[in-house]
Amino acid sequence: MVDLNAACMAFRTLLEEQYLRAKVMEREKTDYSVKDVINIGLIDGDGIGPVIMEQAVRVLQHLLREEIEGGRIRLRRIDGLTIENRLARNTSVPDEVMQRIRSCDVLLKGPTTTPKGGTMESANVTLRRELDLYANVRPVSIPEKNIDWIFFRENTEGEYVLGSRGIDLPGLSVDFKVTTDAGSERIAREAFDYARRNGKKRVAIVTKANIMKKTDGRFSDICHAVARDYPEIQADEWYIDIMAANLVNESIRDQFDVFLLPNLYGDILTDEAAQIQGGVGTAGSANIGSRYAMFEAIHGSAPRMVEEGLAEYANPQSILKAETMLLRHIGRIDAAARLEKALADCTAEVTGDRNGMSARQYTDELIALL
Ligand code: IPM
Ligand code: MG
Repeated sequence: MVDLNAACMAFRTLLEEQYLRAKVMEREKTDYSVKDVINIGLIDGDGIGPVIMEQAVRVLQHLLREEIEGGRIRLRRIDGLTIENRLARNTSVPDEVMQRIRSCDVLLKGPTTTPKGGTMESANVTLRRELDLYANVRPVSIPEKNIDWIFFRENTEGEYVLGSRGIDLPGLSVDFKVTTDAGSERIAREAFDYARRNGKKRVAIVTKANIMKKTDGRFSDICHAVARDYPEIQADEWYIDIMAANLVNESIRDQFDVFLLPNLYGDILTDEAAQIQGGVGTAGSANIGSRYAMFEAIHGSAPRMVEEGLAEYANPQSILKAETMLLRHIGRIDAAARLEKALADCTAEVTGDRNGMSARQYTDELIALL
């Protein structure tokens, strides 16, 4: 007979931790416009990360030259968040790296590799949790197809928060999914506030609450409760499977604009949306918390491109879109708008292979348009 006591004790510990986490969630936002100095941490990441980050930093230096020279904005390199170092140290984010990160305000980060299996957590998941970056915001737009989507993905709960803390028993494994009132409410407010500020008429709440009755059920209930504070906005309920189909259904997809989803569905649907926009290399991602914010490409570190010697042909557009979001977040609206316009106008083609431009050549053309 299998002894279940140890597993039950482990589960008890998880529940205690989750109650504590739910208790300390706060929503006071940092106002960057009143800060004398803004520290931007730069993290290269793995694989194609250093290639696209090099270009993103060039653009940042170009756009913020005066403020950087005047000391109002500091660009600070943060080393050590490499897969080699993390494996050697057996930790997803080494302590001294975390300390450096905490001394910054916002981060621009290249993709980091996550080993499959084992117990090492993804650096992203660790950072999102430790810095409490609860809102993952991902815009996707295709003007010629009348598509203007923005995804508000809950970023600290769901399948992710305990994803590396599942329980293995002989012949059986259990993972845990966690949804809290506080966690659902804060992401729902982000989505509805955005809709209100931008005159959007509808928010699509996307779950699988017919199956995941407790967690998704709670998420959906809380989202609808929040929606009552926004009577001018219609809250629609969708299941994730049909929503995945809707995004490729040309006759209805342009009717959607704001999406509100739990963590894992948000992960999957935003890759799909990015692919529709032109590839996962083309979408940016913001991870917003009340104290910190982290901006990154939505794609991974692409080890295959590196193995095939194609790293320099990686598409920097995703990280550059993330950079526009960073600039907006710290109140540099003009710089953000200039970069957005240049990204929209730049006709240079990056195909991810030798037929297209390298990350550097693309960025040369982009900078010429700024
Ligand atoms: C993303 C990525 C991450 C996620 C990985 C790297 C942990 O896919 O940002 O969407 O699953 O959230
Ligand atoms: Mg993803």
